[in-house]
Order: sequence, then structure tokens, then C-alpha cells
Amino acid sequence: MLYRSVLFVCLGNICRSPMAEAIFIEQAATAGVLDRLEVDSCGTGAWHVGGNADARTISACQRRGTAVKHVARQVDVADFARYDLIVAMDHANARNLLTLGCPAGKLRLMRGFDSEHAAVAGDLSAVPIVPDPYHDGDEEFDRVYSMLLPACRGLLDAMVIPG
Ligand code: 4NP
Repeated sequence: MLYRSVLFVCLGNICRSPMAEAIFIEQAATAGVLDRLEVDSCGTGAWHVGGNADARTISACQRRGTAVKHVARQVDVADFARYDLIVAMDHANARNLLTLGCPAGKLRLMRGFDSEHAAVAGDLSAVPIVPDPYHDGDEEFDRVYSMLLPACRGLLDAMVIPG
């Protein structure tokens, strides 16, 4: 096990990061390693604290057979010690996390784990974002799901030593 714990972070914690968490949990369970990992998600903003994931997030996941179990929360400075990896969805999330004291060494961008973008993963400014779908429709939520799928796969490979 290279990393034991991961925290997915977006702005509202109702669209992108709960979707990433749900996909990652499904992949880790399928790989038989979920019980060895700690996984959670949160938002830099507090608007939706205590609520469920956005209905469009739940629907997009349902269309692909992915279960979502979620209560939104805001990031806490204690998270920066607790989690081995802090995975932001976009550059604004990453900047906000650094301002709050997130160690740069733990901070990654989600799509840096997509093998297609592995070459630039170390340069956060060069990694493409998972765009905020909040003001869009189902099609954009499906597109976000499709972006998260290979990124979560790459993250799981990066966290777990096979065998
Ligand atoms: P998320 O999307 O960061 O992917 O959860 C958003 C959800 C809510 C808001 C913005 C983005 N909001 O402004 O309420």
C-alpha cells in the first residue's frame, strides 16, 4: 500500500467530489482493497453542508450502476494531517486548499491520475480540470463521470501495490 487514505475535494461537495468518491469506492471494492483504504470527500464551500449529493450526480451514477451514499461537509484543517492524498477537481480548489494550509506535497489534481495526463501530473497548473457541472444538465454530469472513471482507476493503481 503506497497511500492508505484519500480525500476528494471540490467546491460544493455535491457534484464532482461525491461522484469521484462513489466511483473510487466501487473500483476499490471490485479490486478487493476497499477495507484497506480510507476514502472521503468534502467541499471548500459550506453552502451544502449536511445535504445529500446533487440529484443529477445521483442520477448520472445510477445510469452507470454506481451507488452514491453521501452527506456533504466542508474541508477541515485536520484533514490535511489525516489524509495521505488530497485530490482537488480544479485549480481554484487547489489554490483554496493551499491557502488553508494543505501541504503542497499531498495535493494532487484529479485528472493527473488519468494515464492520458500522467506526463504533466507533477505540474498542477498543466493538469486539465474536472469542470464544475453545477449550472449544466445531465449531459455534463455524464461527461464528468466519464472523466472521473479513468482518473479514479489511475488513482487506485497509484495507491495500491498489487498482490
Ligand atoms: P461541485 O459543484 O463543486 O462539483 O460540488 C458545485 C456545487 C454547488 C455550487 C457550486 C459548485 N454552489 O455554488 O452552490
